[in-house]
Amino acid sequence: MRHLLEVDDLSETDLAAVLVAAANRRPERILEGRGVALIFEKPSNRTRNAFEMAVVSLGGHPVVIRGEEIGLATRESVEDVIRVLARYHAIVAARVVEHSSLEGMARVDAVPVVNLLSERSHPSQAVADLVTMQQRWGGLQGRRVAWVGDANNVARSLVTACSMVGVDVAVATPRGYELDELTLQAARSRGVNVEVTTDPYSAVVGADAVCTDVWVSMGQEAEAAEKVEAFRGFCVTEDLMSRAAPHAVFMHCLPAHRGMEVQASVIDGPRSAVWDQAENRMHAARALCEWVIGE
Ligand code: CP
Ligand code: NVA
Repeated sequence: MRHLLEVDDLSETDLAAVLVAAANRRPERILEGRGVALIFEKPSNRTRNAFEMAVVSLGGHPVVIRGEEIGLATRESVEDVIRVLARYHAIVAARVVEHSSLEGMARVDAVPVVNLLSERSHPSQAVADLVTMQQRWGGLQGRRVAWVGDANNVARSLVTACSMVGVDVAVATPRGYELDELTLQAARSRGVNVEVTTDPYSAVVGADAVCTDVWVSMGQEAEAAEKVEAFRGFCVTEDLMSRAAPHAVFMHCLPAHRGMEVQASVIDGPRSAVWDQAENRMHAARALCEWVIGE
Protein backbone atom coordinates (compact mmCIF):
# COMPACT_ATOMS: atom_id res chain seq x y z
CA MET A 1 0.00 0.00 0.00
CA ARG A 2 1.43 3.41 -1.00
CA HIS A 3 0.84 6.52 1.11
CA LEU A 4 2.03 10.06 0.39
CA LEU A 5 2.43 11.83 3.72
CA GLU A 6 5.76 13.46 2.85
CA VAL A 7 7.33 14.18 -0.51
CA ASP A 8 10.15 11.73 0.28
CA ASP A 9 7.63 8.91 0.61
CA LEU A 10 8.37 8.95 -3.13
CA SER A 11 11.76 7.55 -4.04
CA GLU A 12 13.83 9.81 -6.29
CA THR A 13 12.96 7.51 -9.18
CA ASP A 14 9.24 7.69 -8.30
CA LEU A 15 9.42 11.49 -8.14
CA ALA A 16 11.06 11.65 -11.57
CA ALA A 17 8.27 9.38 -12.94
CA VAL A 18 5.57 11.52 -11.27
CA LEU A 19 7.03 14.63 -12.94
CA VAL A 20 6.87 12.90 -16.32
CA ALA A 21 3.29 11.73 -15.62
CA ALA A 22 2.24 15.25 -14.60
CA ALA A 23 3.44 16.53 -17.97
CA ASN A 24 1.30 13.89 -19.75
CA ARG A 25 -1.98 15.64 -20.44
CA ARG A 26 -3.78 12.52 -21.76
CA PRO A 27 -4.76 10.67 -18.60
CA GLU A 28 -6.13 7.15 -18.68
CA ARG A 29 -9.38 6.55 -16.81
CA ILE A 30 -7.79 4.41 -14.12
CA LEU A 31 -10.30 5.52 -11.48
CA GLU A 32 -13.39 4.68 -13.60
CA GLY A 33 -16.26 3.91 -11.26
CA ARG A 34 -14.16 4.45 -8.14
CA GLY A 35 -14.37 7.06 -5.40
CA VAL A 36 -11.75 9.35 -3.87
CA ALA A 37 -12.47 10.96 -0.50
CA LEU A 38 -11.07 14.47 -0.04
CA ILE A 39 -11.23 15.55 3.61
CA PHE A 40 -10.67 19.22 4.49
CA GLU A 41 -10.23 20.25 8.12
CA LYS A 42 -8.98 23.65 6.89
CA PRO A 43 -10.07 25.92 4.01
CA SER A 44 -8.81 25.35 0.47
CA ASN A 45 -9.26 26.74 -3.02
CA ARG A 46 -6.46 25.24 -5.14
CA THR A 47 -6.00 21.88 -3.45
CA ARG A 48 -9.70 21.05 -3.41
CA ASN A 49 -10.31 22.06 -7.01
CA ALA A 50 -7.05 20.56 -8.28
CA PHE A 51 -7.71 17.17 -6.69
CA GLU A 52 -11.41 17.13 -7.61
CA MET A 53 -10.65 17.81 -11.26
CA ALA A 54 -7.70 15.40 -11.25
CA VAL A 55 -9.96 12.61 -10.00
CA VAL A 56 -12.58 13.48 -12.64
CA SER A 57 -9.92 13.38 -15.37
CA LEU A 58 -9.02 9.84 -14.24
CA GLY A 59 -12.68 8.78 -14.48
CA GLY A 60 -13.24 8.72 -10.71
CA HIS A 61 -15.78 10.34 -8.42
CA PRO A 62 -14.44 12.81 -5.82
CA VAL A 63 -16.34 13.14 -2.54
CA VAL A 64 -15.36 16.28 -0.62
CA ILE A 65 -15.88 16.01 3.13
CA ARG A 66 -15.51 18.98 5.44
CA GLY A 67 -13.74 18.48 8.76
CA GLU A 68 -16.81 19.32 10.82
CA GLU A 69 -18.90 16.75 8.92
CA ILE A 70 -16.59 13.87 9.63
CA GLY A 71 -15.26 14.92 13.06
CA LEU A 72 -11.82 13.29 12.82
CA ALA A 73 -10.93 12.02 16.30
CA THR A 74 -13.99 13.73 17.80
CA ARG A 75 -17.12 12.16 16.28
CA GLU A 76 -15.20 8.97 15.52
CA SER A 77 -11.58 7.83 15.84
CA VAL A 78 -9.24 8.51 12.92
CA GLU A 79 -8.82 4.75 12.57
CA ASP A 80 -12.56 4.05 12.37
CA VAL A 81 -13.03 6.85 9.84
CA ILE A 82 -10.39 5.42 7.53
CA ARG A 83 -11.58 1.81 7.92
CA VAL A 84 -15.01 2.92 6.74
CA LEU A 85 -13.83 5.22 3.94
CA ALA A 86 -11.60 2.41 2.64
CA ARG A 87 -14.79 0.44 1.87
CA TYR A 88 -15.99 3.15 -0.55
CA HIS A 89 -12.88 4.77 -1.96
CA ALA A 90 -9.72 3.98 -3.91
CA ILE A 91 -7.82 6.85 -2.22
CA VAL A 92 -8.38 8.96 0.89
CA ALA A 93 -6.72 12.38 0.82
CA ALA A 94 -6.87 14.80 3.73
CA ARG A 95 -5.93 18.33 4.79
CA VAL A 96 -5.55 18.07 8.53
CA VAL A 97 -4.96 20.18 11.62
CA GLU A 98 -2.68 17.54 13.11
CA HIS A 99 -0.19 15.63 10.95
CA SER A 100 -0.63 12.72 13.39
CA SER A 101 -4.14 12.20 11.95
CA LEU A 102 -2.55 11.33 8.59
CA GLU A 103 -0.10 9.01 10.31
CA GLY A 104 -3.00 7.30 12.09
CA MET A 105 -4.80 6.81 8.78
CA ALA A 106 -1.70 5.45 7.05
CA ARG A 107 -1.00 3.05 9.93
CA VAL A 108 -4.35 1.35 9.38
CA ASP A 109 -3.09 0.69 5.84
CA ALA A 110 -6.55 -0.01 4.47
CA VAL A 111 -6.45 2.49 1.57
CA PRO A 112 -3.76 4.80 0.12
CA VAL A 113 -3.60 8.07 2.10
CA VAL A 114 -2.49 11.40 0.59
CA ASN A 115 -1.51 14.51 2.58
CA LEU A 116 -3.37 17.57 1.26
CA LEU A 117 -1.46 19.82 3.76
CA SER A 118 -0.72 19.47 7.41
CA GLU A 119 1.01 21.83 9.82
CA ARG A 120 4.19 19.90 8.93
CA SER A 121 4.18 19.52 5.16
CA HIS A 122 2.48 20.10 1.80
CA PRO A 123 3.92 17.45 -0.54
CA SER A 124 1.47 17.84 -3.44
CA GLN A 125 2.34 21.54 -3.57
CA ALA A 126 6.06 20.75 -3.76
CA VAL A 127 5.50 18.34 -6.65
CA ALA A 128 3.47 21.00 -8.50
CA ASP A 129 6.26 23.50 -7.90
CA LEU A 130 8.81 21.14 -9.48
CA VAL A 131 6.43 20.66 -12.44
CA THR A 132 6.33 24.46 -12.83
CA MET A 133 10.11 24.80 -12.61
CA GLN A 134 10.61 22.02 -15.12
CA GLN A 135 8.20 23.73 -17.55
CA ARG A 136 10.17 26.97 -17.23
CA TRP A 137 13.69 25.57 -17.31
CA GLY A 138 13.58 22.23 -19.08
CA GLY A 139 15.89 20.45 -16.62
CA LEU A 140 16.04 20.86 -12.85
CA GLN A 141 19.49 19.50 -11.94
CA GLY A 142 21.94 22.22 -10.85
CA ARG A 143 19.34 24.99 -10.54
CA ARG A 144 19.06 27.17 -7.45
CA VAL A 145 15.92 28.05 -5.50
CA ALA A 146 15.70 30.75 -2.85
CA TRP A 147 13.03 30.58 -0.16
CA VAL A 148 12.37 33.92 1.53
CA GLY A 149 10.00 34.00 4.50
CA ASP A 150 8.55 31.53 6.96
CA ALA A 151 10.19 28.08 7.04
CA ASN A 152 6.74 26.49 7.16
CA ASN A 153 5.00 23.38 5.84
CA VAL A 154 5.36 24.52 2.21
CA ALA A 155 9.04 25.41 2.66
CA ARG A 156 9.81 22.07 4.30
CA SER A 157 8.29 20.06 1.47
CA LEU A 158 9.84 22.27 -1.22
CA VAL A 159 13.36 22.01 0.23
CA THR A 160 12.98 18.23 0.44
CA ALA A 161 11.63 18.02 -3.11
CA CYS A 162 14.41 20.24 -4.49
CA SER A 163 17.06 18.13 -2.82
CA MET A 164 15.58 15.00 -4.44
CA VAL A 165 16.03 16.40 -7.96
CA GLY A 166 19.45 18.02 -7.54
CA VAL A 167 18.30 21.62 -7.00
CA ASP A 168 20.35 23.76 -4.58
CA VAL A 169 18.42 25.78 -2.02
CA ALA A 170 18.97 28.93 0.05
CA VAL A 171 16.53 29.61 2.87
CA ALA A 172 16.25 33.10 4.36
CA THR A 173 14.18 33.46 7.53
CA PRO A 174 14.29 35.76 10.54
CA ARG A 175 16.22 34.41 13.52
CA GLY A 176 13.97 32.07 15.51
CA TYR A 177 11.99 30.96 12.43
CA GLU A 178 14.63 28.76 10.78
CA LEU A 179 13.97 25.53 8.93
CA ASP A 180 14.22 22.50 11.24
CA GLU A 181 17.50 20.59 11.42
CA LEU A 182 16.01 17.26 10.30
CA THR A 183 14.80 18.72 7.00
CA LEU A 184 18.12 20.49 6.45
CA GLN A 185 20.19 17.40 7.22
CA ALA A 186 18.07 15.14 5.04
CA ALA A 187 18.32 17.60 2.13
CA ARG A 188 22.09 17.97 2.51
CA SER A 189 22.51 14.20 2.71
CA ARG A 190 21.20 14.04 -0.88
CA GLY A 191 24.23 16.01 -2.03
CA VAL A 192 22.72 19.41 -2.82
CA ASN A 193 23.91 22.70 -1.39
CA VAL A 194 21.52 24.04 1.27
CA GLU A 195 22.31 27.50 2.63
CA VAL A 196 20.60 29.04 5.63
CA THR A 197 20.67 32.78 6.24
CA THR A 198 18.81 35.64 7.89
CA ASP A 199 19.57 37.87 4.88
CA PRO A 200 17.08 37.61 1.96
CA TYR A 201 19.51 39.52 -0.26
CA SER A 202 22.23 36.92 0.11
CA ALA A 203 19.73 34.05 -0.38
CA VAL A 204 18.53 35.26 -3.79
CA VAL A 205 21.95 35.77 -5.40
CA GLY A 206 22.02 33.55 -8.50
CA ALA A 207 18.59 32.08 -7.75
CA ASP A 208 16.54 30.75 -10.68
CA ALA A 209 13.38 30.99 -8.58
CA VAL A 210 12.45 33.08 -5.56
CA CYS A 211 9.71 31.40 -3.54
CA THR A 212 7.65 32.52 -0.60
CA ASP A 213 4.39 31.88 1.25
CA VAL A 214 2.21 33.61 3.82
CA TRP A 215 3.86 34.59 7.09
CA VAL A 216 0.87 33.39 9.12
CA SER A 217 -0.27 29.90 8.20
CA MET A 218 -3.74 28.51 8.86
CA GLY A 219 -3.98 27.76 12.56
CA GLN A 220 -1.33 30.35 13.56
CA GLU A 221 -3.73 33.28 13.79
CA ALA A 222 -2.89 33.86 17.47
CA GLU A 223 0.75 34.53 16.50
CA ALA A 224 -0.14 36.91 13.66
CA ALA A 225 1.00 40.22 15.19
CA GLU A 226 4.27 38.75 16.44
CA LYS A 227 5.06 37.08 13.10
CA VAL A 228 4.22 40.10 10.97
CA GLU A 229 6.64 42.11 13.10
CA ALA A 230 9.37 39.43 12.86
CA PHE A 231 9.06 39.09 9.08
CA ARG A 232 9.34 42.78 8.21
CA GLY A 233 12.20 42.90 5.70
CA PHE A 234 11.26 39.50 4.21
CA CYS A 235 8.85 40.86 1.59
CA VAL A 236 9.76 39.76 -1.96
CA THR A 237 10.09 43.15 -3.62
CA GLU A 238 11.19 44.16 -7.11
CA ASP A 239 14.48 45.24 -5.57
CA LEU A 240 14.99 41.76 -4.09
CA MET A 241 14.04 40.09 -7.40
CA SER A 242 16.59 42.29 -9.20
CA ARG A 243 19.37 40.56 -7.20
CA ALA A 244 18.31 37.08 -8.38
CA ALA A 245 19.34 35.62 -11.78
CA PRO A 246 18.09 37.82 -14.67
CA HIS A 247 15.63 35.10 -15.78
CA ALA A 248 14.47 34.28 -12.22
CA VAL A 249 10.80 33.51 -11.64
CA PHE A 250 8.71 34.39 -8.61
CA MET A 251 6.74 31.53 -7.04
CA HIS A 252 4.07 31.46 -4.33
CA CYS A 253 1.74 28.57 -3.49
CA LEU A 254 -1.11 31.07 -2.79
CA PRO A 255 -3.19 32.47 -1.19
CA ALA A 256 -1.01 35.61 -1.23
CA HIS A 257 -1.02 38.84 0.72
CA ARG A 258 0.16 41.70 -1.49
CA GLY A 259 2.16 44.20 0.54
CA MET A 260 3.10 41.57 3.15
CA GLU A 261 5.22 38.66 1.90
CA VAL A 262 5.21 39.93 -1.72
CA GLN A 263 5.04 43.27 -3.45
CA ALA A 264 2.00 43.49 -5.76
CA SER A 265 4.13 44.39 -8.80
CA VAL A 266 6.16 41.17 -8.33
CA ILE A 267 3.26 38.72 -8.06
CA ASP A 268 1.32 40.53 -10.79
CA GLY A 269 4.42 41.12 -12.93
CA PRO A 270 6.09 39.27 -15.82
CA ARG A 271 8.32 37.11 -13.59
CA SER A 272 5.44 35.65 -11.65
CA ALA A 273 4.77 31.93 -12.21
CA VAL A 274 1.95 31.71 -9.67
CA TRP A 275 -0.95 30.99 -12.06
CA ASP A 276 1.01 28.21 -13.76
CA GLN A 277 1.82 26.89 -10.29
CA ALA A 278 -1.88 26.87 -9.42
CA GLU A 279 -2.76 24.99 -12.64
CA ASN A 280 0.06 22.54 -12.06
CA ARG A 281 -1.49 21.58 -8.73
CA MET A 282 -4.07 19.69 -10.84
CA HIS A 283 -1.50 17.96 -13.07
CA ALA A 284 0.58 17.01 -10.03
CA ALA A 285 -2.53 15.76 -8.23
CA ARG A 286 -3.38 13.51 -11.16
CA ALA A 287 0.14 12.07 -11.26
CA LEU A 288 0.12 11.51 -7.49
CA CYS A 289 -3.25 9.72 -7.63
CA GLU A 290 -1.79 7.46 -10.33
CA TRP A 291 1.28 6.81 -8.16
CA VAL A 292 -0.57 5.93 -4.96
CA ILE A 293 -2.80 3.43 -6.69
CA GLY A 294 0.24 1.99 -8.43
CA GLU A 295 -0.60 2.88 -12.04
N1 CP B 1 -1.66 26.35 -2.26
C1 CP B 1 -2.72 25.79 -1.67
O1 CP B 1 -2.64 24.74 -1.07
O2 CP B 1 -3.87 26.50 -1.80
P1 CP B 1 -5.24 26.18 -1.06
O3 CP B 1 -5.01 26.38 0.42
O4 CP B 1 -6.22 27.17 -1.62
O5 CP B 1 -5.62 24.77 -1.34
N1 NVA C 1 1.55 27.76 4.82
C1 NVA C 1 0.18 27.94 4.40
C2 NVA C 1 -0.03 27.28 3.09
C3 NVA C 1 -1.42 27.46 2.51
C4 NVA C 1 -1.58 26.75 1.21
C5 NVA C 1 -0.75 27.38 5.46
O1 NVA C 1 -0.46 26.31 6.01
O2 NVA C 1 -1.76 28.01 5.74
